[in-house]
Amino acid sequence: MKIRPASRIHGRVTVPGDKSISHRAATIAALASGRSRLVNFSSSEDCGATLRCLRELGVALEQEGNTVTIEGRERLQKSSQVLDCANSGSTMRMLAGVLAGHEFSSILTGDSSLRSRPMMRIIEPLEKMGARVGSVDGQPPLSIVGSGSLTAIDFEMSVASAQVKSCVLLAGMRAQGQTTVLERQLTRDHTERMLNLFGVPVTTEPLDGKGAGLSIQGPVVPSARDVHIPGDISSAAFFIAAAALIPRSDLEIVDLGVNPTRTQFITTLQSLGMDVKVTDSAEVSNEPVGKVRVVGREAGLNSQRAVQSNNLAIELIPQLIDELPLLAVVGTQITGGIAIRGARELRFKESDRIASTVTNLRAMGAEVEEFSDGLAVTGPQRLGGAELDSFGDHRIAMAFTIAALLANGGSTLVGAESVTVSFPEFFPLLESIVEF
Ligand code: S3P
Repeated sequence: MKIRPASRIHGRVTVPGDKSISHRAATIAALASGRSRLVNFSSSEDCGATLRCLRELGVALEQEGNTVTIEGRERLQKSSQVLDCANSGSTMRMLAGVLAGHEFSSILTGDSSLRSRPMMRIIEPLEKMGARVGSVDGQPPLSIVGSGSLTAIDFEMSVASAQVKSCVLLAGMRAQGQTTVLERQLTRDHTERMLNLFGVPVTTEPLDGKGAGLSIQGPVVPSARDVHIPGDISSAAFFIAAAALIPRSDLEIVDLGVNPTRTQFITTLQSLGMDVKVTDSAEVSNEPVGKVRVVGREAGLNSQRAVQSNNLAIELIPQLIDELPLLAVVGTQITGGIAIRGARELRFKESDRIASTVTNLRAMGAEVEEFSDGLAVTGPQRLGGAELDSFGDHRIAMAFTIAALLANGGSTLVGAESVTVSFPEFFPLLESIVEF
């Protein structure tokens, strides 16, 4: 993919349905009594993997455009196939929680990236609850022997992960008694919201000190619902960053999910003095939905409010985890640059996102320091056009497409096709709002 520098971003767009919310809606609808209609379901390959696995487990579902209709079944059916989660950590970790409560064995695998990702974080709690989970040194493939009589547990997460929290809560739906997950750093709360929407109460208690305890009383069966899924803010983030940084830009994104556990990227841009406004927020299907308007800054690299140094608060890292590579790109364009620490989890994503980000930024001539748990870029600095690599990682592909729009001279991106994992419409939508 060849990418030229952009002169501005302009227009009004919607982005496809939220990937995190779509995974949850499909998984919970599959276990519900009755038929659910999921409107504006994510077009991502990741969510496609969730639907495929659910079909393999005997769930009747139909897809027409972006609407998915799911006939729930209280008990899934053993699959004769290995369940292929492709590139999707969410599919594997959430399904593992569901399958732990089913009295049959299942095997979950994925592509080479997913097969190198850590799974002890879900194996430990699921085994405590009474499932047997085999792995290859803590990595997939996973073999799960579920149990019809899981034990409820109190579980304190050692890593801040919404996928782990969701896995345990979904297993908790089939356990006897109250399962509680303690999170010391808040992570996205879509599972709690979706379970509540489907009539399964999840209570949230603030913990003294910080964080929250989430409890679910099992066994419980969700009731089918129609769900409207809002646009994915983690997809919109790429366009928001480009519009905020490129002078004379004006962009509006409508029907966008603006759940406070996901908007930290916008809050961060605002705190850096950028003109990003969220309006018209309303609750739809138990999720906040709104409109975002971004106006580009004035010409010149130094035009935004001067700051001493931009250190991200560590407790906020889990709430903008997917936006950190993009934020590193933003950091090169602002006074004070940006330092991201306490983000070791980035090394265990679809690629080692600290290494992928540092390699690409250096290819563009940027000054950047790498740490085991993050990176620091100086700013403002001019990025040079370069040969860039997605490392097979959708978010790296998109973050560096944006970097290439900001650069001096043309760039080439190897592995641009990986965007389909979360956002197949990324390039055509970008084309519709970019001017060269
Ligand atoms: C997700 C949680 C995050 C995030 C991923 C989606 C989710 O992962 O990086 O893209 O939908 O719960 P972790 O929970 O492992 O941090």
